[in-house]
Amino acid sequence: MDWLLALLGGYLLGSVPFGLLLALVAGKGDIRKIGSGNIGATNVLRTGSKGLAAAVLLLDAAKGFAAVYLAWRWLPEVATLAALGAVLGHCFPVWLKFKGGKGVATTFGVTLGLAPILGLVYAVVWLAMLGITRISSLGGISAAVAAPVAAAILGRMEFVPVLAAIALIVTWLHRENIARLRAGTEPRVGRKT
Ligand code: G3P
Repeated sequence: MDWLLALLGGYLLGSVPFGLLLALVAGKGDIRKIGSGNIGATNVLRTGSKGLAAAVLLLDAAKGFAAVYLAWRWLPEVATLAALGAVLGHCFPVWLKFKGGKGVATTFGVTLGLAPILGLVYAVVWLAMLGITRISSLGGISAAVAAPVAAAILGRMEFVPVLAAIALIVTWLHRENIARLRAGTEPRVGRKT
């Protein structure tokens, strides 16, 4: 049953919707009715508050990291399932009728928890793509796809299946962003939609 504990524990931690909660507490209203409707840091930035967006980014990453960190401590054999659970919890939280975020920040946290070098690769790809293009979704998708590739190159094959599954989930959740990217209408960071 350890696998179920890891998956469920990760899911519960990941399902805390920090973007929604912080925006509400800060008096910005329901973030799901603003911009893209996503509960992630990029959309929180569209409320005009950089500090709030940074806090959401940190907390969404921290819950992913915490899920994996705790699993390494208590259920090391199945820690990768806690990673998957955390991303599933963020993306499909039971509290929000399974309509959550797109998983980019939480995936950063879980890669960092699985292996710091993977977290570093993830952050570098994410920030580089974001810096070059100013398009958040492109940075996030690129980083998520880079993670299983980096794990394979670094010989951490035990992480590849879960990171590949997460990359598929993150990419699928960005399907509307991808359609806008293809149409050339995806907004750049710093501009309101
Ligand atoms: O992490 C989400 C980001 O990649 C895209 O967010 O609000 O532009 O759909 P958004």
